[in-house]
Amino acid sequence: MTLLEAGTPAERKAMQLLVALGTIYEADRLVPVSSVHVAGASYAIVGEAGRRFLMDFSATAQVRVRTTVNPLGMDTEAWQAMGISPDFAARQADIVEAYRRIGAEETWSCIPYQIGNRPGLGDHVAWAESSAVVFANSMLGARTNREGGPSALASAVIGLTPNYGLHLPIHREATVRVEVEPDIHGYEFSVLGHHLGREIMRGVPFLEGIEGSEDAWKTFGAALATSSDIDMFHVKGLTPEWESANAEGRPTLRVRQEDLDRAREDLVTSDTYGVVAFGCPQLSPRELAEIAGLMGDHPPRVPVWVFTSRAAADQAAEAVRQIEEHGGRVWTDTCPEVMPWPEEGDVGTSSAKAAVYLPKLCRQRVFLGPPEELLEGGA
Ligand code: F3S
Repeated sequence: MTLLEAGTPAERKAMQLLVALGTIYEADRLVPVSSVHVAGASYAIVGEAGRRFLMDFSATAQVRVRTTVNPLGMDTEAWQAMGISPDFAARQADIVEAYRRIGAEETWSCIPYQIGNRPGLGDHVAWAESSAVVFANSMLGARTNREGGPSALASAVIGLTPNYGLHLPIHREATVRVEVEPDIHGYEFSVLGHHLGREIMRGVPFLEGIEGSEDAWKTFGAALATSSDIDMFHVKGLTPEWESANAEGRPTLRVRQEDLDRAREDLVTSDTYGVVAFGCPQLSPRELAEIAGLMGDHPPRVPVWVFTSRAAADQAAEAVRQIEEHGGRVWTDTCPEVMPWPEEGDVGTSSAKAAVYLPKLCRQRVFLGPPEELLEGGA
């Protein structure tokens, strides 16, 4: 008897989904995964249908592998200060309870790789959340397709994923070389990601002539995956699989300063803003310390909201204290695009991913710029 016939209702449903996916994508088998990252935890995103599904599913499900979960629609402790209604909070709490019941870790974070769920080179995983997927494939050399919420949840319960796409070495090879002419710093990594995504759309870019920190590549990947179907990139001399990327002879795309200027201009929908939101992806402990330092040097003129995970905030408690001393507010467990904004407005952000989603999902116009400029400007 297989799980298709003999499992609990949730296990049977999960196995059916994985087998169906494997059939569609002509996977030769299901492979074991060492971890799962699930998206679809914010009540603002999944709504009533998602809440009911998770409550029902969790009644007969238990995770078989380490499972972390994407941000919720609110800070679990400070939701009232965020202006969240008691009704929303109660429905969100049902979703929290469903994930708790199946044994998922209550991370509520899109940066699992910076708070302990950090797979190694060659590990098969099943991750949802495009920014985490592109980081896992590119920076860690782990192997995952861009899972949807349901397929990642199914892998959590079964411990397997269909072996196709980026699980296979052939699909991890470079498809286009990218030469970046200007010196790129800070938030420009995010703008570069947005530009390359729009230009390339799919495949695996191989970048040369550019250096950046882990956090810079994190923001680059998040923006790249937002404006395209790209789930992996290589950086010459940096990422773990660049030497086996087979980049020789691939077509070359050159990036000039005017390309980045245009990409930024296309994302700006407001000249001013009433609030600054940092943290898309959620900030790492190191980024929290950077923002704390910047706020000391550039006292903000408008409210500053900083989004991170509870684990990162705990690790960077002194930075959190400094941010709040400078008048900022640090929210955990949630993010600027999956929380319910009460009304239309204008937001300053340094994230190209946020600049794409805030207008689409949250009725917010956006000013995109470097953090120090955001702190000095505003309404
Ligand atoms: Fe993370 Fe939310 Fe941005 S999940 S990548 S902070 S849209």
